[in-house]
Amino acid sequence: MKRPYVIVNCAASLDGKIALANRRLVRLSCSDDHQRVHALRAECDAVVVGIGTVLQDDPRLLLNPSLALGKSPLRVVLDTTLRTPRSARVLQGDAPTLIATGSRPHKRELPDTEVVECGNGAVDLQQLLLMLQSRGIHKVLVEGGETVLWSFLTSELWDEFTQFISNSFIGGVTSPSIAGGSGIVTSSDMRKFRLEKVERLGNGALLTWQRG
Ligand SMILES: NC(=O)c1ccc[n+]([C@@H]2O[C@H](COP(=O)([O-])OP(=O)(O)OC[C@H]3O[C@@H](n4cnc5c(N)ncnc54)[C@H](OP(=O)(O)O)[C@@H]3O)[C@@H](O)[C@H]2O)c1
Repeated sequence: MKRPYVIVNCAASLDGKIALANRRLVRLSCSDDHQRVHALRAECDAVVVGIGTVLQDDPRLLLNPSLALGKSPLRVVLDTTLRTPRSARVLQGDAPTLIATGSRPHKRELPDTEVVECGNGAVDLQQLLLMLQSRGIHKVLVEGGETVLWSFLTSELWDEFTQFISNSFIGGVTSPSIAGGSGIVTSSDMRKFRLEKVERLGNGALLTWQRG
């Protein structure tokens, strides 16, 4: 079966960081980029984040009602052991939420939330995408954080990577970056993407990449 079309998106500082050195959330998108991301969410049937982002940023992942873009997409959290707090904002508001876990997650009931087992260790992304496709989800937006970006960008499971580069500088070895994970240690294993588009956007630049 075909998987959904997958767009990976992030906002980074000009030195490639996606949060502050203490991992705290920082707004890197300018207002033009903020609008672009909400329009992108509105085009997609589901948005995906990792449990790290839920615990750190507590995002709602809803469409901004003032932009009148319609119904918010399904929110999907990658959460192997089902750690999402009952109070998480991703479980609230006017959009459904699905938590994808590994096998045998902690047994917990979460209000108005579907929990689906997808694989053994970390959530199996291919299995997840095929399950979403079978439910009529044809376009997915992956919104981070750094570990989830790494997992998608080192897989063949994405189609487009949009990267907003802001005019701010963060630095620091502890600041999350565009991709976390274990990193590549052999030059022949390095991933090369194809630069599709470069646009000036607000105070920064929007780069669109495709798989090489
Ligand atoms: N600027 C931006 O665009 C942006 C957007 C989002 C987040 N952020 C920042 O990113 C940081 C959070 O990044 P993070 O790496 O800690 O968290 P994350 O990428 O949101 O979540 C990572 C966690 O998701 C779970 N997971 C389950 N299956 C996975 C899979 N197949 N691949 C990857 N992860 C999987 C793992 O935890 P379990 O093993 O417990 O399941 C993993 O540790 C925060 O500082 C946040 O502010 C920035």
